[in-house]
Amino acid sequence: MRNSWLVALATVAIANADNLAYSPPAYPAPWANGQGDWADAYQKAVDFVSQLTLAEKVNLTSGVGWEGGQCVGNTGDIPSQNFRGFCMQDSPLGVRFADYVSAFPAGVNVAATWSRDLAYARGQAMGEEHRGKGVDIQLGPVAGPLGRIPEGGRNWEGFAPDPVLTGNMMASTIEGIQDAGVIACAKHYIGNEQEHFRQGSQQNYTVSDSISSNIDDVTLHELYLWPFADAVRAGVGSFMCSYNQVNNSYSCGNSYLLNHVLKGELDFQGFVMTDWGAQHSGVGDALAGADMDMPGDVAFDSGTAFWGSNLTIAVLNGTVPEWRVDDMAVRIMSAYFKVGRDRSRVPVNFDSWTQDTYGNEYYYAGEGWTKINDHVDVRGDHAQLIRQIGSSSAVLLKNTNGALPLTGKERNVGVFGADAGSNVNGVDGCADRGCDDGTLAMGWGSGTDNFPYLVTPEQAIEAAVIQNGGLFTAVTNQSGIDFAQKAAAQADTCLVFGNADSGEGYINVDGNVGDRNNLTLWQNAEAMIGAVAGECNNTIVVLHTVGPVLVESWLHHPNITAVLWAGLPGQESGNALVDVLYGKVNPGGKTPFTWGKQRSDWGVDIIYTPNNGEGPPQQDFTEGIFIDYRHFDKANVTPTWEFGYGLSYTTFSFSGLNVQPEPAAPYTPATGKTGAAPKFGKVQGASAYVYPDDINRIEAFIYPWINSTDLHASSGDPNYGWPTDKYVPKGAQDHSPQRVHPAGGAPGGNPGLYDVVATVSVDITNTGSVAGDEVPQVYVSLGGPNDAPKVLRAFDRLTIQPGQSKTWTTTLTRRDVSNWDTVRQNWVVTNYTKTVYVGNSSRKLPLKATLILK
Ligand SMILES: *[C@@H]1O[C@H](CO)[C@@H](O)[C@H](O)[C@H]1NC(C)=O
Ligand SMILES: *[C@@H]1O[C@H](CO)[C@@H](O)[C@H](O)[C@H]1NC(C)=O
Ligand SMILES: *[C@@H]1O[C@H](CO)[C@@H](O)[C@H](O)[C@H]1NC(C)=O
Ligand SMILES: *[C@@H]1O[C@H](CO)[C@@H](O)[C@H](O)[C@H]1NC(C)=O
Ligand SMILES: *[C@@H]1O[C@H](CO)[C@@H](O)[C@H](O)[C@H]1NC(C)=O
Ligand SMILES: *[C@@H]1O[C@H](CO)[C@@H](O)[C@H](O)[C@H]1NC(C)=O
Ligand SMILES: *[C@@H]1O[C@H](CO)[C@@H](O)[C@H](O)[C@H]1NC(C)=O
Ligand SMILES: *[C@@H]1O[C@H](CO)[C@@H](O)[C@H](O)[C@H]1NC(C)=O
Ligand SMILES: *[C@@H]1O[C@H](CO)[C@@H](O)[C@H](O)[C@H]1NC(C)=O
Ligand SMILES: *[C@@H]1O[C@H](CO)[C@@H](O)[C@H](O)[C@H]1NC(C)=O
Ligand SMILES: *[C@@H]1O[C@H](CO)[C@@H](O)[C@H](O)[C@H]1NC(C)=O
Ligand SMILES: *[C@@H]1O[C@H](CO)[C@@H](O)[C@H](O)[C@H]1NC(C)=O
Repeated sequence: MRNSWLVALATVAIANADNLAYSPPAYPAPWANGQGDWADAYQKAVDFVSQLTLAEKVNLTSGVGWEGGQCVGNTGDIPSQNFRGFCMQDSPLGVRFADYVSAFPAGVNVAATWSRDLAYARGQAMGEEHRGKGVDIQLGPVAGPLGRIPEGGRNWEGFAPDPVLTGNMMASTIEGIQDAGVIACAKHYIGNEQEHFRQGSQQNYTVSDSISSNIDDVTLHELYLWPFADAVRAGVGSFMCSYNQVNNSYSCGNSYLLNHVLKGELDFQGFVMTDWGAQHSGVGDALAGADMDMPGDVAFDSGTAFWGSNLTIAVLNGTVPEWRVDDMAVRIMSAYFKVGRDRSRVPVNFDSWTQDTYGNEYYYAGEGWTKINDHVDVRGDHAQLIRQIGSSSAVLLKNTNGALPLTGKERNVGVFGADAGSNVNGVDGCADRGCDDGTLAMGWGSGTDNFPYLVTPEQAIEAAVIQNGGLFTAVTNQSGIDFAQKAAAQADTCLVFGNADSGEGYINVDGNVGDRNNLTLWQNAEAMIGAVAGECNNTIVVLHTVGPVLVESWLHHPNITAVLWAGLPGQESGNALVDVLYGKVNPGGKTPFTWGKQRSDWGVDIIYTPNNGEGPPQQDFTEGIFIDYRHFDKANVTPTWEFGYGLSYTTFSFSGLNVQPEPAAPYTPATGKTGAAPKFGKVQGASAYVYPDDINRIEAFIYPWINSTDLHASSGDPNYGWPTDKYVPKGAQDHSPQRVHPAGGAPGGNPGLYDVVATVSVDITNTGSVAGDEVPQVYVSLGGPNDAPKVLRAFDRLTIQPGQSKTWTTTLTRRDVSNWDTVRQNWVVTNYTKTVYVGNSSRKLPLKATLILK
């Protein structure tokens, strides 16, 4: 729609005029070179791409348009190589829009398990399901949003507002997905911390551009970029750039973030795709480091594209260098070979736009009637894993006098709240789960999939009570306070359910446009809790929430004996809950976010109304690295429950901390230069790329060909070629060898960052009478005046028998004890005293030791 250069120029002008944050240009776009364990895949990609024409390479990079194929994103085929285009499919918790798939627990629950093994197992199971449906790229996992603001609508799709917990879960999930032969996609890069204004105007407000997340260099490196670096180091094949701007430059056209940081410093060898509609320019984004545009059209189904024909034209008119398109194609194919897609591909056998068996292959155009859904059941035995993650992620927050576990001898059990029951309109009654009817087991938006079924708490608890010979009733009428009181007065055990939902900004649920409007429970669940507790002296509260909620108004009621957070557990919700309630599984989850006592405790908030007139809203990350527990610690605010907290049916003690410095080679900044940009193949004259005569053009479909050899006319861009002298940013066409980033040198950053500098060991004893899981957590104080009091650096989840002790040993790397130095543009270990803390939450750290590095 807009000429990239104009956008960039206008942005600079605004930035200068209004003193808004500004992102410096960084060119040229680094070319892949097969670093690290990418060498084989890179060579195969080079061999493949070397056989392609320009139009074929463009087909690899360009989406065919919204609803132009069977997946949520599709690229063109390469018939000469008998190669079908790529199939991109949501979501981070399963195969979106398909039938016979599993509904996995959300990312926030995976974080609550603190188990890399479960994260890996879930990644692999999801990867298998995508593979079985013919998907090439699963659009997940998520590290952006990280969770800066508790109301952030999509926080639950990701993991936790801590870069180390999230980074570990990112890496394990990616390894799982990619070991299953499917390319993972680390998203949304970066600063996508709220839904409001992520795409500019919304609801009653008109603004010129998307919100700008203004993030300083230290905060970027020490907080938001950290888990993305772990993703690169884990070998992730693709990244997705986000809708928002960063420093007033669109993420998908921000050369500093894509060229300098991601492909330079982090040495990312895979490819960057745009979020759906996050592309705002053709030439500009290509030069700034984007490699694939999704879904491919300028506006959904406009039939026009920034790339496709325009990318072919841009190469022919010399604005986008040939090597840049070669690099896009090589990066895309490298990811393909890296995960073994060449060995694991099956045809796409489902359709995103209908679940009918027969339909149109080109849904928007209404053409290509064929069998589009084979209804392949890809679920395998994943239900067991889902149930295990569900029970392993439950966080026991309060438990008075052993109220839990239930013994099975309860004679009269009551279940209360709409959140315990079914959605009366069906399990998938609301499109993209955009409602809050019945029990909450995932949030809403594109980060969802269809439930094959959903075991509700009501069903599972009822089955358990009947088996135990008790009485059971469930009042799931949320307004039925009178009915609830009557039943609660008769019950000896009352389980009250409440939830809080959120999701993606394109759906409004009860006035919440993605982000939550408040931090209280939904549907007045507090009233139901209070009413039941008034009648029942053993009231157990179960929460299905996307993040923290305010609980102080009811938590201390003497009849509320237990509180359990179950998060968004997916299809096996009720079964997983029953496992924990009855003690078949001893809860070992730890809260992956801090629960404040009042809204103001968190400091930062969503920008709900524009704050920059009709210009892009400005979201200044002035709190820096101080989000979630780092903020609570620094501001000395006592939370209800701190990050990392969770009870068990047993108790544990920690002793014998030993922090042993390890010799490590000195940190050496990466030096030297890359090779020159390679070219694979040869660009012919324009006539070679004119539409073939025999092609039947599908309506609104994006092709790589041009209408005629008149490039200007073929583009149809009113700003074509203007102004020719300044169109290409300085250095963008430079294909000469480039200096290696000193903090780079390998995927994930300088290998010296990952040298072990200390070993930490501790003895953990189960001091209770039942077996249980404990999560030892290592925090480090970096010691400087601008540092957080402590930051999480290592953790594990251990199963320990009663009376037994285990010695747990972990390591700290150089990165774990480093700060980002903005002057050196590298990581440094400062001279401030480093202190290591160990315990089982961010505020229960009984052991500490000073770390004197060798
Ligand atoms: C954004 O601006 C800040 C402040 O000038 C700077 O530290 C940071 O590096 C910039 N980040 C990007 C991505 O441009
Ligand atoms: C590009 O993809 C389209 C759609 O799959 C296909 O019809 C066309 O032949 C491809 N073009 C080239 C040059 O391979
Ligand atoms: C938008 O405007 C309508 C009509 O004035 C109003 O009812 C609605 O509450 C407004 N929405 C928001 C989010 O302000
Ligand atoms: C080329 O891109 C411009 C926007 O930059 C758009 O207006 C035009 O329609 C595109 N042309 C084609 C053939 O898609
Ligand atoms: C829910 O309870 C309220 C209050 O007693 C009552 O008015 C309403 O009819 C009940 N809803 C249904 C569906 O029975
Ligand atoms: C918070 O939002 C939820 C969902 O829209 C709503 O049910 C609840 O009443 C709100 N809480 C307050 C205190 O307004
Ligand atoms: C606690 O429950 C009992 C019924 O078991 C009730 O009599 C009492 O009033 C309740 N306490 C409060 C503070 O509501
Ligand atoms: C709850 O009330 C019952 C009956 O009044 C009593 O037997 C029981 O001990 C009480 N439980 C607690 C936890 O106070
Ligand atoms: C956490 O550690 C404390 C000691 O710091 C201990 O009292 C408590 O039992 C532990 N919690 C769990 C769930 O093991
Ligand atoms: C290219 O040709 C097609 C088919 O004739 C036409 O619909 C389209 O508008 C043309 N594009 C431009 C930019 O002229
Ligand atoms: C080259 O082609 C691109 C894509 O159509 C167009 O945006 C750009 O203005 C053209 N530049 C020149 C210098 O002709
Ligand atoms: C640490 O102290 C030494 C000696 O005072 C000094 O040379 C060095 O620059 C300091 N390093 C850092 C990272 O501050």
